[in-house]
Amino acid sequence: MNELYLNGKITNKSDAQISIMDRGFLFGDGVYELIPVFNKKIFLLSKHLDRLANSLSLIGMKKIDDLDEIIDKLIAKNQQQNFFIYIHITRGAQPQRNHVYPKSIEPTILVMCEEYPCFTQEQIRSGFSACIQDDFRWQKSNIKSISLLGNVLLKNHAADNDLYETLLMRNNKLTEGSASNVFTVKNNLIHTPKLSNELLPGVTRDLLIDLLRKNDLQVMESDVTKDDLLESDEIWCCSSTNAVVPIVKVDEHTIGSGKAGNISLLTHKITREFIRDY
Ligand code: PDD
Repeated sequence: MNELYLNGKITNKSDAQISIMDRGFLFGDGVYELIPVFNKKIFLLSKHLDRLANSLSLIGMKKIDDLDEIIDKLIAKNQQQNFFIYIHITRGAQPQRNHVYPKSIEPTILVMCEEYPCFTQEQIRSGFSACIQDDFRWQKSNIKSISLLGNVLLKNHAADNDLYETLLMRNNKLTEGSASNVFTVKNNLIHTPKLSNELLPGVTRDLLIDLLRKNDLQVMESDVTKDDLLESDEIWCCSSTNAVVPIVKVDEHTIGSGKAGNISLLTHKITREFIRDY
């Protein structure tokens, strides 16, 4: 886990250095991806690399070509079976701080492996709590930008109150969680906000829609108002780091029975099975 790739070299985490003039450091000017590795197999790599290419294009940067080779090299050096690949690409360093970037600037490319704790089956069955906050982030949340201050403040609002997640509303419409996408269930119908500039096109979100439909469940990509959210029978958050996380309390409102509901548990199960068989 200690070795990482930085600008063409494999090096140790404690030895890796970047310039203080890097635009990622000075402006948060860059994008990232986080890709799970299960049993040494990279999960849905092409989906993550496609989203990264899209994020780069949306900020006017070129596609990075040899990322899969870099990832393979790092994985070969890693003894662990399950971990996450973190890819961080900034526009690069320039001699003087200037909002305007030069036309020719070499990107900074960092790829490293990270571990995240996994929730137990007991925690999943009990479910987690969340709160609602105004989505005050910028209007390009479809870009997986490294400028995460809004998300960081919103996630810490949850953490400070011993909650798992902050669910975000803009103009009385659910967008996503501070670090996850969100699904709701009402009368066996599953809803998730439709893709737009206001939310990240989550790779897990996409996978779940597909798996649920293959299991004959109806999923609608549609608006979810605050009342819809609070009156849901079930809610779950999803992300590459935590797969499916049932939410059983939102602010002071209990969702469903106050334990993870049947559809949340089924979704968790079919996702785990898909990962196991991948
Ligand atoms: N984030 N929305 C936001 C704002 C996120 O930060 C994430 C995940 C998701 C889910 O996307 P995916 O299913 O592709 O992981 C949705 C990662 C895990 C992170 O920033 O660490």
